[in-house]
Amino acid sequence: MNVVHLISKKRDGGELTADEIGALITGYVRGDVPDYQMSAWAMAVFIRGMTVAETAALTEHMLHSGMTFEWPEGESPKVDKHSTGGIGDKVSLLLAPLLACCDLQVPMISGRGLGATGGTLDKLESIPGFRTNLNTAEFQDVCRRVGCVISGATADLVPADRKLYALRDVTGTVPSIPLITASIMSKKLAEGLDALVLDVKWGSGAFMKTLNEARALAKSMVDTGKRMGVPTAALLTDMNQPLGRMAGNAVEVNESVESLQGNGPADMMEVTLELGAELLVLANREKTAAAARHRLEKAISSGAGLEKFREMVAAQSGDLDAPRPVAPAHDVGSPWDGYVTSIDTERLGYAIIHLGGGRKQLNDKLDLSVGLEMLVRVGDAVEKGKPLVRVFAKPDALNEVKRDLLAAITIGDNRVEAPALIVERIA
Ligand code: URA
Repeated sequence: MNVVHLISKKRDGGELTADEIGALITGYVRGDVPDYQMSAWAMAVFIRGMTVAETAALTEHMLHSGMTFEWPEGESPKVDKHSTGGIGDKVSLLLAPLLACCDLQVPMISGRGLGATGGTLDKLESIPGFRTNLNTAEFQDVCRRVGCVISGATADLVPADRKLYALRDVTGTVPSIPLITASIMSKKLAEGLDALVLDVKWGSGAFMKTLNEARALAKSMVDTGKRMGVPTAALLTDMNQPLGRMAGNAVEVNESVESLQGNGPADMMEVTLELGAELLVLANREKTAAAARHRLEKAISSGAGLEKFREMVAAQSGDLDAPRPVAPAHDVGSPWDGYVTSIDTERLGYAIIHLGGGRKQLNDKLDLSVGLEMLVRVGDAVEKGKPLVRVFAKPDALNEVKRDLLAAITIGDNRVEAPALIVERIA
């Protein structure tokens, strides 16, 4: 393989063959292709883009750079949901056990915080004892016995992505739709799925700031999933304000438990039920989305969903009844009368990071007890002095964060409509 030729071909807008992409990825994982050549290639892709065929080939070769899960014939279908991430997005904690109550199995490989967004593994680690580092045998065993499992990627799962993502992170090549597609889809498809649903978020707290970017990413991922034989659908959802009320780690687990008890915030329940209904229909467990929603709602009202979550936590060595410490609460009041006109959701995420609830550096130890509770939503009327947001933090950290929170929540004179929660379905 002539790597310079492949880089130049992409740089000049040419289309690489599947074999050329395969040789590049294999060479990179083996160490034959150095980081500087791979960086040049990633930048060429960033600028020139990739066709659907190239993106699928990249996904496929990344997927097969390591082990993939094999599941015996005749078991319940394996399904998963992937979210592109947002503030307060705790849907995985609800959806995995609910789907496991509906004759599906959910082998969910999750991640840690990325940018301003929190990570499912960090949230789960606020449950005393909870293990997020299961090995492959343990992961498959919990999935079979309980019906759902949420754990981190093992070292042998998609090593090409681990290497390439670290390189992209420091070469300005993360926000490339084909590279994001291959990164996400290779990891999800390595789980050996029968169906996949994607929650692609757009807005101030999302990776994709505009609806058009989110739509393009959703389309690219759905096309790739289908091309690789896995029924895939995506919902474009709003991230111009946090999902649910809580954002942080322990506070999000608490909100998830309350939601499984039937007391979830309307926006979060809507997103959870719609994503779950997609999977039940894609995996042929229900004929219509309405019937699928009904089944998921029943799993909540009967208490089965909460019981399943408890079972999963116990199978991963956690104790759901042990206290999950939450830092002292302080309310931040509105500076004047008016209406909430917009929320800089990313800024809220960075405020949580500032409190220690997310990482500034790779090896930071988190304070899982800190977080926020949103007391208002876009469009709400507010009065001077009335609380906008409740902060869970040690008092000494409060002042700086308070300034950020007030800057993040814009109060105007005129009422605005909140953006639509679920904007579009792409399938
Ligand atoms: N998340 C991923 O896993 N990969 C990307 O490239 C971007 C977000």
